[in-house]
Amino acid sequence: MYDYERLEQYAEKISTKIGFQPRVGLVLGTGLGEMAEKMTVVYEQAFTDFSGFPVSTVEGHVGHFLFGYFEDVPVVCMQGRVHYYEGYSMEDVVLPIRFMAIMGVESIILTNAAGGINKDFNVGDIMVITDHISSFVPNPLIGKNVDNLGIRFPDMSNIYDKQMREAFVTVAKQNGIPVREGVYIQFTGPSFESPAEIKMAAALGADAVGMSTACEAIAARHAKVKVCGLSYISNAAAGLSDKELSHEDVRWASKFGAESVEKMLRGYFRSIKQ
Ligand code: HPA
Repeated sequence: MYDYERLEQYAEKISTKIGFQPRVGLVLGTGLGEMAEKMTVVYEQAFTDFSGFPVSTVEGHVGHFLFGYFEDVPVVCMQGRVHYYEGYSMEDVVLPIRFMAIMGVESIILTNAAGGINKDFNVGDIMVITDHISSFVPNPLIGKNVDNLGIRFPDMSNIYDKQMREAFVTVAKQNGIPVREGVYIQFTGPSFESPAEIKMAAALGADAVGMSTACEAIAARHAKVKVCGLSYISNAAAGLSDKELSHEDVRWASKFGAESVEKMLRGYFRSIKQ
């Protein structure tokens, strides 16, 4: 089990160094990392600087915390996330989320590339996540409860904050961005799903599929941090198109989605700026 006192000490040290309180935590998914270049960075810390921290091994994921401002809103941005399929325990996978919670953020915005399951969805759509199915991956809260973060049996009735969701949908519509709302299902990966698994996911009520996010949302809600999730539909899920699935294609397609996500984030940050 990770030494959470050490995590608190890291947070304290960085708070003193940067001299401001990040309000929002931002997790940049596949192909969206370049968005970090648009923020005003005050301080940067590699995950490798934190002892015992998981390090992303996926191409296209950098592995940094960036502290700074986006549209004048103080943020901590996680550039590159870690995935369960990289071989880390689920507890380790969500450590960066817990770190942001300890830093005192009010909310965390999770972004990801996802396969579209809903047949009405098109590549390039942005899905604002309304709920998730995480039953196919281990729960990140398994193990001794970290009482300083949250309770043993946290409620998950409203994981994705309604007000934030509405704000993002409004901003998307104002900017002419094709926005959808729906349920995200997390599988472990790293293989893409089989067509039969996608049929199952559709029957269960999932609209988009990915290999991250739901576990992070649980960890954030455990710590009583508000959560919002934006999925960029980078491909039709397995069996729904003739195309073979590849990470390169997901990355490539995500670059275009990044533009829409960035516009939505900009609009959202402007709306919460005080
Ligand atoms: N499946 C799982 N994860 C993904 C996909 C997919 O089709 N596209 C992007 N991430």
